[in-house]
Amino acid sequence: MTGLALPVAGVSPKMLFMKSPAYLQCITPSCGNTHDIDEVRFDCARCGSLLDVRYDWSQCDVPKSLAFFDARRNFSQHSEHGRLDRSGVWRFRELLPFARPDDLVTIGEGQTVLQVADDLGREVGMHAGRLYLQYEGFNPSGSFKDNGMAAAFTMARLLNRHRVACASTGNTSAALALFANQTKTSSGQAMEAIVLVGGDRIAPGKLSQALDYGAKTLQIDGDFDVCMRLVKEHAETLNLYLMNSLNPFRLEGQKTIMYRVLEAMRWEVPDWIVVPGGNLGNTSAFGKAFVELRDLGLIDRLPRLAVINAQGANTLHELFEHRGLRYSNGNYDSAKVASFYEEMDRNGVVADTVASAIEIGHPVNLPKALRSLEATRGLVRQACDDDILDGKALVGRYGFGCEPASGASVAGLRLLIQEKIISPDERVVCILTGHGLKDSGTTVNYHSSSCATNHAGSYANPPIKTKADLASLKKALAG
Ligand code: F0G
Repeated sequence: MTGLALPVAGVSPKMLFMKSPAYLQCITPSCGNTHDIDEVRFDCARCGSLLDVRYDWSQCDVPKSLAFFDARRNFSQHSEHGRLDRSGVWRFRELLPFARPDDLVTIGEGQTVLQVADDLGREVGMHAGRLYLQYEGFNPSGSFKDNGMAAAFTMARLLNRHRVACASTGNTSAALALFANQTKTSSGQAMEAIVLVGGDRIAPGKLSQALDYGAKTLQIDGDFDVCMRLVKEHAETLNLYLMNSLNPFRLEGQKTIMYRVLEAMRWEVPDWIVVPGGNLGNTSAFGKAFVELRDLGLIDRLPRLAVINAQGANTLHELFEHRGLRYSNGNYDSAKVASFYEEMDRNGVVADTVASAIEIGHPVNLPKALRSLEATRGLVRQACDDDILDGKALVGRYGFGCEPASGASVAGLRLLIQEKIISPDERVVCILTGHGLKDSGTTVNYHSSSCATNHAGSYANPPIKTKADLASLKKALAG
């Protein structure tokens, strides 16, 4: 893709960014090609690799210690930057300094909770006080995507782009649609949201959000991978600004999920972060967050990342755990990836899981995810649909609930404890990426003994059909 930065009412994006210490850089160390921050690019012009947002930290006001951010928790709405301190993304603005404070877009994202989950921990074999659940479903659109959208919409507005688009399994489209209806471009125009969703795979709760928030919603005859390919190929022709996690600014926003985890743990680094893997944006962002903090001298060790694929959408697991694919400081074997995809096509394999949010066969951030795994001594596991739904049910039973994809974190944790890779007294944070009401149909099916895999879930709590009289009530309550 070529540069598309359009002039804005007399002010060119170049001028808006002139003082920015940020630039885009190819992730492949042997290339390292750079691009200006205002170039609309998602791949390196020289070698085609993915791009990172990078900073010349010597030009930035980086705090000397993470405790610097504590004061911002007592924000006042009326203080100069109260609006930003309230945001769980922009409270950490010195760690993603690609735009000036006045230009940052926020709708109040990142008011999330880190819950100590002893009851759930006991159920999966952890000791008390060691398991934490990070609820990203508490975001305005109900998923972690809002973190990334705050950053990507900031960029879209700076570039004066007003048609924003994504492919989605549902949550990205909900977040995009909500941010678009809350954000005006720098020239006062309304943002137009265009979302491409797989024809029949999206959970109704998520589809309802895109429709309700006013996005132009295209239900494509194909799955997420088809939608992703389509929007990536044609974004430029259709003058759409791409807001998937291929857009490196999305990942800058998603770094802050890790900052909030650290903040809630009094800046102590946990032993493990367990996260579901779909398009691998979080995996990529989390690794980048920790590596940057370490390089800035703000933490002295990295947690290990455990990425959990659904068994029916297990590209990363297959490549990393079975075929030995490693990042190798950027020299990863891309032919191995290509031949795996050819094999999938040849055998007609498409992603298929009850956790529709992570039903992705061709994760666009694969190389960045491999880099994160290398940096964090990470590993990958796959969980079958039954285990994912049981994981989700446990978060419902013992916590605040989550959607199926998030249940993969708990299913993965359980596996890793059984394998004795995670020990019961390590400190583990499971990332719960989406709210429980996103996919309530799947939850009701699970509890009503007609779940996707056609048998009752291990934690099923079926409704009891009862006649409307006292004797029947007594009978039902005695059961
Ligand atoms: N959990 C939920 C609830 C998600 O919606 C997604 C991705 C993931 C996990 C996977 O995260 O891509 O960073 O590995 N949903 C995207 C969407 C693909 O379109 O809403 P990832």
